[in-house]
Amino acid sequence: MRKKVIIGNWKMNNDKQETENLLLNLKNKTWNKEIEVKVSPSFVNLEYAQKILKNSPVEVVAQNMHYEEKGAFTGEISYKMLKSINVNSVIIGHSERRTLFYENDDTIKRKIKTALDNEMKVIFCFGESLEDRKEKRHIKIISKQLDVITNGLKINQWNQIILAYEPVWAIGTGLNATPEQAQEIHKHVRKEIATTFNKNLADSVQILYGGSLKPNNSKEIFFQPDIDGGLIGGASLSFEDFYSIIRSIDKN
Ligand code: PGA
Repeated sequence: MRKKVIIGNWKMNNDKQETENLLLNLKNKTWNKEIEVKVSPSFVNLEYAQKILKNSPVEVVAQNMHYEEKGAFTGEISYKMLKSINVNSVIIGHSERRTLFYENDDTIKRKIKTALDNEMKVIFCFGESLEDRKEKRHIKIISKQLDVITNGLKINQWNQIILAYEPVWAIGTGLNATPEQAQEIHKHVRKEIATTFNKNLADSVQILYGGSLKPNNSKEIFFQPDIDGGLIGGASLSFEDFYSIIRSIDKN
């Protein structure tokens, strides 16, 4: 039985005080223990977030990291730094990293390898652009993006992976995928994993949806059989909205 997951990707938002306010509110709430809740603050607030969330089941995850362990990479952060403050999960392949910071399949692949080799969990994002969808090549694009992660991955490394389908046209636009559109992709992804690896594995991988998830659309999206939760950007910046999204999966 796959556990449900809700992750708040704060992106470049929330200063120290805002981080504290939001996390103290979250720490006071409870939900079904079977739901994994994670937040991803900016690098500068990771350690503070850890401190606030001490003794709480909420995990703190990083938004990015470099593939090298250390060296002359001004402005970058390594897995070793993250692990030294007990951050053991990282988001890789987010569309903003791909488009705004020119990360390509090669960079993404290296980052994933470094993370997995060093016992970190990877939240791997993938998704098609609007043009891809209009041209009806979204399935092909998604398969290609997934190749980056499935190619070379050992079966026993899958427990370090969470997948997040995030159609680029839905991120921050207020235009979410319909439950049917998202379910179609999630089902396809499981089929691909079953073909490349095996069905048991395909059935055990957590696959999240991300892209304009809000309290008023999350329940019906989470209700889909192959959707295990969400990666939430904008709505994770409001404690009320984020908690309400957690509640919406709690009731499913
Ligand atoms: P959004 O962002 O919820 O603001 O659309 C999702 C994401 O980028 O992970």
